[in-house]
Amino acid sequence: MARIISIFQALSLALLAAGSSVKLTIPSENGNATSGMLYGLMYEDINFSGDGGLYAELIRNRALQGPEPDLTAWRTHGSGVTLNVDTTEPLSDALPNVLRVDISPTATGKVGFSNEGYWGMSVDTNQYKASFYIKGDYKGDVELSLRSDIDGTVFSTKSVAVRANDEWKKYTTRFTPSAAAPNANNTFTILFDAEKVRGKSLYFNLISLFPKTWSNSGTNGLRVDLAEAIDEIGGKFLRFPGGNNLEGQSPPYWWKWNETLGDLINRPAYPGPWGYVNTLGLGLIEYMRWADLMDLEPILGVYAGLYLDGTVVPEEDLAPYVQSALDELEFLTGPVDTKWGAVRASLGYPKPWKIQYVEIGNEDNLWGGLPSYQEYRFDMFNEAIKAKYPDITIIASTPEITGTPAGTWVDYHRYDKPDHLTTYFDQFDNWDRQHPVLVGEVAVIAPNEPNKPEVEWTPGALRLAYPSMIGTVAESIFLMGSTAYAPGFQNLNSYQWVPDLISYTADPADTTLSISYYLQKLFAQNVGETTVPVETTEPFRPLFWSATYSKKHREYYVKLANYNGTSTDITVEIPALKGGKATFTSLSAPNGHSYNSPRNVTSKWTVTDIPKAGKGWTVKLDNLMIGVLKIQK
Ligand code: AHR
Repeated sequence: MARIISIFQALSLALLAAGSSVKLTIPSENGNATSGMLYGLMYEDINFSGDGGLYAELIRNRALQGPEPDLTAWRTHGSGVTLNVDTTEPLSDALPNVLRVDISPTATGKVGFSNEGYWGMSVDTNQYKASFYIKGDYKGDVELSLRSDIDGTVFSTKSVAVRANDEWKKYTTRFTPSAAAPNANNTFTILFDAEKVRGKSLYFNLISLFPKTWSNSGTNGLRVDLAEAIDEIGGKFLRFPGGNNLEGQSPPYWWKWNETLGDLINRPAYPGPWGYVNTLGLGLIEYMRWADLMDLEPILGVYAGLYLDGTVVPEEDLAPYVQSALDELEFLTGPVDTKWGAVRASLGYPKPWKIQYVEIGNEDNLWGGLPSYQEYRFDMFNEAIKAKYPDITIIASTPEITGTPAGTWVDYHRYDKPDHLTTYFDQFDNWDRQHPVLVGEVAVIAPNEPNKPEVEWTPGALRLAYPSMIGTVAESIFLMGSTAYAPGFQNLNSYQWVPDLISYTADPADTTLSISYYLQKLFAQNVGETTVPVETTEPFRPLFWSATYSKKHREYYVKLANYNGTSTDITVEIPALKGGKATFTSLSAPNGHSYNSPRNVTSKWTVTDIPKAGKGWTVKLDNLMIGVLKIQK
């Protein structure tokens, strides 16, 4: 069989090489409704994508959070000071560990400490907002500065008059650097007058520095360049907060939504499963604001009693977790006279949000979770949520569950190699319509065969460091009928997963939009409400196509991909259309192994006007090229 297929493939390649032209005819603008969920984003805090990424906070370890607090990112400035983690002077129940600065009896001049940020911090000439809590016997100026870690250049200094005593006090200030730093190798430094506090200790906590944030996302908002990149995709939904990050590694830690609310002083640490502590600064409200500002439909993941270490909450203990999910929904959607609706209003959000999709858990088929998910976990959540919110669409976190009520969606995840992923091109065509599928996570993560820059991820298993061109073409074939790349972000200084959609460091000049990113944008911006038929005599492979029509925009979108074929002229004919202005947007790269990396974009995004010639519009689709022909009615 394999032999027959390969002869067939060779023949079709030969034919394409010789003829190199294909005709596609779209006989009608009618067809099946296209999913309203094309395309979207799956987001969780992984790869320092929240803290150290999209969440714009510049101070790392701002409140020494976590079960094993340490002085990561902090260091002394000047002589005669030592830094310590102190647990005797808690700032709040949520933030019990504080920074104690001991000043020697002989210290002189300005002394203090610095924060290195998340492997540096970018300095520009926009306004920054700094704040800190202080306790101790000190009356005098505290000087805040942004300075180069290479040569000490000070880009900005701001003095704050402090009158500290034995109560915690918060100080907030704003400043605007007069010059931008040439790179991100900078620190935030806090200095005070040693002579005023010799032989004593000062306590600091929740030291925060926010640059200008994206849109109106405010002081607890999103990093501009990363949010802009996501917004530009033009997706339809945001699935959050995970992913594994929803589930937690082991008891008692999972993403407890109610601990992510309100003043940062009340948000405890969440030791997430990706090896670092989440500050929870990017909390439930921040996610909802993000979804609002980008006009994304929220797909809310609720914790369903499975930890990644395989611990499952037994049936008799699950009720409080179900109640927590109900409370979360009431918090988001309830009127202000409900218990949780009132809490939301008290936080400044009286207007309820609308939640139409709730996913119960994440990948509950893994870690031994399927039997309990099948037997009671899914049902308990589903029944309770449906009883109170009958209009919400429930999504099971795995297609492996059976017997769910009609109308329940399933979340399908696939991480694959390019060749293999293309074999799933049409797998959803005959999917059980009673249980629609959301592809909540998909990516090519490994090369077909070893090629640089691959990474030996686990012994013997190769991963791509960045999305490759051939991998992106394979994704395009899969994505013609489905969605959501994962993970979204990667801090290049510390990460747990490759490849990723967007990579970055503290320096915005390093921000890298992968080839897969451009695919998401290409497809998300070119999708109609109706999937229309395409007639042709050609089989799929090496060319793939699908077409949609938008009544709203009076446009056809023909998605095209060439996976290991030869350069081919593709003519699209729409007999019903007399005129028609067309543009062809293509995504390509020098070869299949090409990838985008910091300051090295190899992919090409080209937009060309296509005049009608004869009965249709003809475009050239080179090997490993993805394109969308947009034809206006
Ligand atoms: O996207 C990275 C991880 O892959 C997600 O957290 C998890 O859902 C999947 O296994």
